[in-house]
Amino acid sequence: MQCLLSALLLAGASGVLANVNYPPIPSDKTTPVQQRLAFKSPTEMSVGWNTYEQLSNACVQYGTSQTALKSKACSDSSVTYPTSRTWSNAVTLTGLKPATQYYYKIVSGNSTVSQFVSPRLAGDTTPFNVSLVIDLGVYGDNGYTTTKREEIPAIQPALQHTTIGALARTINNYEFVIHPGDFAYADDWIKTLSDLLNGKNAYEAILENFYDQLAPVAGVKAYMASPGNHEADCQEIPYTSRLCPTGQKNFTDFQNRFGRTMPSTFPSQSTSKSLQANAKKAAALANPPFWFSFEYGMAHVVMFDTETDFKNAPDGTNGSAHLDTGRFGFPGQQTAFLRADLASVNRTQTPWLIVAGHRPWYALGDEQCGPCQNAFETIFYQAGVDLAIFGHVHNSQRFAPMYQGKVDPAGYNNPKAPAYIIAGGAGNIEGLSTYSSNATGNVFAYDEDFSYATLQFKDSEHLGIQFLRSSTGELLDSSVLYKKRG
Ligand SMILES: *[C@@H]1O[C@H](CO)[C@@H](O)[C@H](O)[C@H]1NC(C)=O
Ligand SMILES: *[C@@H]1O[C@H](CO)[C@@H](O)[C@H](O)[C@H]1NC(C)=O
Ligand SMILES: *[C@@H]1O[C@H](CO)[C@@H](O)[C@H](O)[C@H]1NC(C)=O
Ligand SMILES: *[C@@H]1O[C@H](CO)[C@@H](O)[C@H](O)[C@H]1NC(C)=O
Ligand SMILES: *[C@@H]1O[C@H](CO)[C@@H](O)[C@H](O)[C@H]1NC(C)=O
Ligand SMILES: *[C@@H]1O[C@H](CO)[C@@H](O)[C@H](O)[C@H]1NC(C)=O
Repeated sequence: MQCLLSALLLAGASGVLANVNYPPIPSDKTTPVQQRLAFKSPTEMSVGWNTYEQLSNACVQYGTSQTALKSKACSDSSVTYPTSRTWSNAVTLTGLKPATQYYYKIVSGNSTVSQFVSPRLAGDTTPFNVSLVIDLGVYGDNGYTTTKREEIPAIQPALQHTTIGALARTINNYEFVIHPGDFAYADDWIKTLSDLLNGKNAYEAILENFYDQLAPVAGVKAYMASPGNHEADCQEIPYTSRLCPTGQKNFTDFQNRFGRTMPSTFPSQSTSKSLQANAKKAAALANPPFWFSFEYGMAHVVMFDTETDFKNAPDGTNGSAHLDTGRFGFPGQQTAFLRADLASVNRTQTPWLIVAGHRPWYALGDEQCGPCQNAFETIFYQAGVDLAIFGHVHNSQRFAPMYQGKVDPAGYNNPKAPAYIIAGGAGNIEGLSTYSSNATGNVFAYDEDFSYATLQFKDSEHLGIQFLRSSTGELLDSSVLYKKRG
C-alpha cells in the first residue's frame, strides 16, 4: 500500500496532467483573492491576501468612513514558493482606535471596499462572542458530505460549505474566529481519484479554492490561525515527506500565508515588574504563526503548536506521524514561551485565560495526544487556564474540567482545572469521526452532522460555551463555565 502510494506521489509530483479544479485566474492579476484579517496589536490589524502576480508595493487604504479612506499602509514583501500560482501579501494597518468600525480597500484595479471592527482593548468588559472552527476543509458542489467517512465523493469546488455558510450567515453574532489547525486539507488530494496523477497541482488548487471560499468570513473578521497536521506536508503518508515537491513540505504554505499576519504578543500594561518581565520574555519567545498570544476585552488567548517543537511532537523528527517537520524554534522555546506568556497575564484586566491548539489529550476515541499532554497540561493547570480548545477529532465534544485524567470535583462551578472542548466537526474531505465509547469526563459529544462552537464572554465570571449544527444553526449543547474572581 505504502509503495503504491509513494509511486503515485512521485507521479503526482511530476504534475504531468493539468486537469485539476483550479479557480480561474482573473485577467487583472492584481485582483485580491483569499483575503484574511488578524489582530496584530491592540491598535493594529493585519490584512493578508494573495494575487496571481507579484506586487512590488502591496497597499491597503483604510479609514472610518467608507467614502474617505484617509490612511494607507504598504509593504514591499510579496512572497511565493515553488508550485504555488499565487503570491502572498501582508500589510499592517496601524494607529487604529479600539473597537471601531473601519473600512478598507486593498489597492488594485479590481477591488472593492470591505470592513472590519478593530480590536477591543484588554480590560474592556463589553460582552462578546467568538466562533471556533477546527478541521474545516473545502466543500464540493452539493456540500461536501453530511455523512460519515465511508461515503466520500470527489471534491468539486463551490461555495456550499455548511460551516463556512454558518459563519457567513451569523457574521454579526461574533467578533472573531479562532482556528487552531487543519484548514484546506490540501494534502488529501490523494483521496480524489481524478487528482491521483496530478498531486502537485491538486494540492495548490485545493488551497486556492478553500481560501477563496473562506474570504467572505476571514476578510471581515479577524481569523486567528495556528497549525494542524494537515498544514505539514503534501500528504500524510509516513516516511515519504522527502518525496513531496519543494514548496509542499514543512508548513510552507501556512508560513507564507499567516507568518506575517499573526501577532507575536500584545504588550503588557501592567505596573507589576514581574508581569512586565514575563511579558518581555514571552514577546521574545513567541513565534507566530506557530505559538503566540493576543488580548481582546476580557480575554487573553494563547495559540500553540501541537505538531512540532516539544518532546516527541507528533509531526517533528521521529514523531508518531513520521512527517519529519519543524523545528521552528530552539529546543524548549515553545514551552518557555507558554510559561512566560501565561505568567504575564493580569487576571483583573483579562480574567479569561483561553488556550487553543490542534491535537487534544482528552477525547473520545483513540486520538489522545500523549506527548502534548506531557508537554502542556501542567503548564496550563498551574497558570489557571479556564478553557482549552482543540480539534483533530472530527466531531464535537465537551469535557468536564480535568487534570491528569481526573475530573475536577467542582465541575463547571469554579473549578481549578481547565475545561476542555473539541470543535473538530466543522467539515473536510475525511468526513465525520464516529465515537463509539465514553471516556472519563465527557459530558457531551455529537457526530451526526457538521458542527462548530461559539463562546460567549458574558462577564468576568461567566463564559458560555455552545455547540451548533452548521447546516441548521440548531443549538446542540449549551453550558456556562463559572469562575469566581478576586
Ligand atoms: C475582478 O474580480 C472578480 C472577483 O472579485 C473577478 O470575478 C473578475 O474576473 C475580476 N476582473 C478582472 C478584470 O480581473
Ligand atoms: C452571542 O451569542 C448568544 C448565544 O448564541 C446570542 O444570544 C447573542 O445574541 C450573541 N451576541 C451577539 C452580539 O450577537
Ligand atoms: C491589573 O489590571 C487592573 C485593571 O486594569 C489594574 O487596576 C491593576 O493595577 C493591574 N494590576 C497590575 C499588577 O498591573
Ligand atoms: C531519531 O531517530 C534516529 C534513529 O533512531 C536517531 O538516530 C536520532 O537521534 C533521532 N532524532 C531525534 C531528534 O530524536
Ligand atoms: C522547517 O523549517 C524550519 C524554519 O523555517 C527549519 O528550521 C527546519 O529545519 C525545517 N525542517 C525541515 C525538516 O526541513
Ligand atoms: C458519557 O457519560 C457521561 C456521564 O454519564 C454523560 O453525561 C455523557 O453524555 C456521556 N457521553 C457520551 C458521548 O455518551
